[in-house]
Amino acid sequence: MSDITATPRLWAPVHGEAYRPVPYRPERMPADEALAHAAELRRRMGERRTVRSFSPDPVPEQVIKDAIACAATAPSGAHQQPWTFVLVKDPGIRLRIREAAEHEERISYDGRLGEQWLAALRPLGTDAVKVHMTDAPALVVVFQQRYWLGEDGTRRKHYYVDESVGIAVGMLLSALHLSGLAALVHTPSPMRFLGEVLGRPENEKAFAVIPIGYPADDCEVPDLVRKSLDQVLVEL
Ligand SMILES: Cc1cc2nc3c(=O)[nH]c(=O)nc-3n(C[C@H](O)[C@H](O)[C@H](O)COP(=O)(O)O)c2cc1C
Repeated sequence: MSDITATPRLWAPVHGEAYRPVPYRPERMPADEALAHAAELRRRMGERRTVRSFSPDPVPEQVIKDAIACAATAPSGAHQQPWTFVLVKDPGIRLRIREAAEHEERISYDGRLGEQWLAALRPLGTDAVKVHMTDAPALVVVFQQRYWLGEDGTRRKHYYVDESVGIAVGMLLSALHLSGLAALVHTPSPMRFLGEVLGRPENEKAFAVIPIGYPADDCEVPDLVRKSLDQVLVEL
């Protein structure tokens, strides 16, 4: 365990403060334990699949909140934590999001995407119907804070927002999967309607809608092949 003993501070935007070090001495994991842990994690992560067909069964809400809390531990450019996670359970709001998403998706699938993009999507079996938005019991809509917005309207630039939010979403997906829940990263394009429907401030830009739940009893997923370790790893 770390021997961090400093009194926890409440979050406030860090800007121009002096460097304030605290000790960080996590206990080192013995190699045999680490190997076993890594192999098990690799096996479990290998089982994750994007689900597009959800059961309407409720899920333990705290599991989603804990997964969001995990995501919010992600590293971020200049520690600006430029993310907001909106947890939508209300069926009426989920329906509004579905209708708006389907409106955009119909235009996309009817030609806006272009032949190459449509060809890339064909093996996934997706179309403009987004039933998962209303079947899944919860949606997490992730927003990027493109810049910091003070209460008096002051703006400050955020750095590496795309990268930071992408990493946080990866951690969210991992936490959900390892906690037994299925998810889909859905990116209807354009996504401006999400900020409007959810009443988000002007500095926030939607990044993805993530339906979360259990797979439907008759759920199917595309038979995809993942690259092998050899194909993604370069050792020097
Ligand atoms: C940035 C991003 C955007 C995605 N957008 C969509 C989407 O709009 N609709 C969808 O059905 N799947 C979407 N996906 C899911 C991918 O299609 C899926 O991850 C991929 O086919 C691999 O399948 P797997 O997650 O089961 O391994 C998206 C994934 C990512 C990472």
